[in-house]
Amino acid sequence: MKTIEELNPKDQIILMRVDYNVPLKDGQITDDLRIRASLPTINYLLENGAKKIVLISHLGRPEGKENPEFSLTPIAEALKNLLNGQTIDFKPLPKPGEKIASPAKILLLENLRFDPGEEANNPDFIKNIIDSVGAEAFIQDGFAVVHRAHASTDAVKNFLPIYTGLLLEKEIENLSKVLKNPEHPVLLIIGGSKVEDKQPLIDKFTTIADHILVGGKIAADGYKPENDKIIVAEDFDEDGEKNKLDIGPVSTAEFAKYIEEAKTIIWNGVMGKVEDPAFTTASSIIADAIGKNTQATTIICGGDTTGFVENYLKDHQDLKYSLISTGGGAALEFLLGKKLPGITD
Ligand code: 3PG
Repeated sequence: MKTIEELNPKDQIILMRVDYNVPLKDGQITDDLRIRASLPTINYLLENGAKKIVLISHLGRPEGKENPEFSLTPIAEALKNLLNGQTIDFKPLPKPGEKIASPAKILLLENLRFDPGEEANNPDFIKNIIDSVGAEAFIQDGFAVVHRAHASTDAVKNFLPIYTGLLLEKEIENLSKVLKNPEHPVLLIIGGSKVEDKQPLIDKFTTIADHILVGGKIAADGYKPENDKIIVAEDFDEDGEKNKLDIGPVSTAEFAKYIEEAKTIIWNGVMGKVEDPAFTTASSIIADAIGKNTQATTIICGGDTTGFVENYLKDHQDLKYSLISTGGGAALEFLLGKKLPGITD
């Protein structure tokens, strides 16, 4: 795929796939990382004279039907605020043959998954969108959705020249560093609760990493390492009913020591039940140690972990990470070396 630097967007109508599938609670966005992460590409296109930017995204899984619960309305509002009041048109998906009239420089279309054509990877569905706005080039910047073969990630390649956006470039560049000649020691830190989701990553990294640290509920449930690179937390903080809800100070200190010495770090999965402030200690210490290791390539991935780090950063702005990945499943599949339809020709 060509990069955005190879595109001259001047006077062009650009169709841009973003991933605005953000968490919402009572209609409010609880984590806007994915929206903020799309701004560099939008600003780049504005600064380089694009005539119009048409943003397309999905939100949730409305299963091909219009459903106000999954409307991008709150995202349109958030985007307006983040772009300092820039006028943004927000329109429904076009009907077959419909032309969309929109005077604003930025147009956001309603949830792609309101139409079954998106998930069915239907070429007619995306071609209709292209024609409705007169798009001349396509930018893929929705890193979090590139593992899906959908109309806006796959079929679209039949109709327009495709370029990678700045977010996609940043994600791929950092995640690739881990797979291709990473600087050693390489450290994978695993937490969270679903061992079945994490085991493939652990298996893959037994050949890449020097050490794999396992905490979170997976460790509390008694994870049995099958490789001597794997170090599992052994002490835990408990609630009054003896539930192990965070890894304890001995394991946390041991983990922090590995982090200090590592040159490549991937963290996927929180260390405790972080939705309860009483059990955020270990994850905070890990976030701190990683953010202070500025010699290393440091990657935070997985929705719970990036959400935690984003929150932690509010009061710890001195911490630095190479990448807080916007891709949950996509980042995992990338690290597992799978082919991703949205980023292959
Ligand atoms: C994600 O949040 O992982 C992406 O937006 C993809 O969403 P999906 O799992 O519903 O396809």
